[in-house]
Amino acid sequence: MAKVTLPTLLVRRARLADVPGVLAMFGEWEAEGSCRNLRIPPWERVEAALPLTLVAEADEVLVGFAQGRLRTAGPGLDDIFTPGQRLLAVENLFVTREQRGQGIGSRLLAALLELGADRGATGYLLSTATLQWPRAIPFYQRHGFQVWTVTMFRR
Ligand SMILES: CC(C)(COP(=O)(O)OP(=O)(O)OC[C@H]1O[C@@H](n2cnc3c(N)ncnc32)[C@H](O)[C@@H]1OP(=O)(O)O)[C@@H](O)C(=O)NCCC(=O)NCCS
Repeated sequence: MAKVTLPTLLVRRARLADVPGVLAMFGEWEAEGSCRNLRIPPWERVEAALPLTLVAEADEVLVGFAQGRLRTAGPGLDDIFTPGQRLLAVENLFVTREQRGQGIGSRLLAALLELGADRGATGYLLSTATLQWPRAIPFYQRHGFQVWTVTMFRR
């Protein structure tokens, strides 16, 4: 029988050399038009976010990324967190279209939450403007998230 080598998937901390790859994935994400408020950030913002950015790499090609931001619970979040509580906000999570459905997004998210906990976060927050929210909600619920508010609009 022919020997098949499966690509190895590595989820790791992002480094400076990954900035172009992360920007390229932002470009793919914008082009697919799946998220209402997606703006491709400038290089400086991607670079500044590196300490809380993870990338997924398959055979040395980037296939996904996750970015978080540390913040403190303040006014407006009292219903769900204690004032002053350290939180990790999940800012962006993306897996290239061809690689979806194999658990890469789950690995990136789990690793980002773990990184946040290592930095002292005891709560996690995210909001999404994805048009695919009916699929995104169960995905995040599987990682322990609950729905707090839902914003709707009419025009
Ligand atoms: C959301 C996303 C990161 C999941 O990555 P993934 O590697 O496919 O995730 P996993 O394989 O670990 O889990 C698959 C689950 O993700 C969810 N999902 C699949 N496609 C999705 C999509 N286009 N958008 C949102 N969630 C999706 C579903 O719950 C799916 O489970 P199901 O197949 O049983 O329905 C990926 O679909 C993606 O990059 N989507 C576009 C960007 C996006 O919507 N980001 C998150 C919202 S801000």
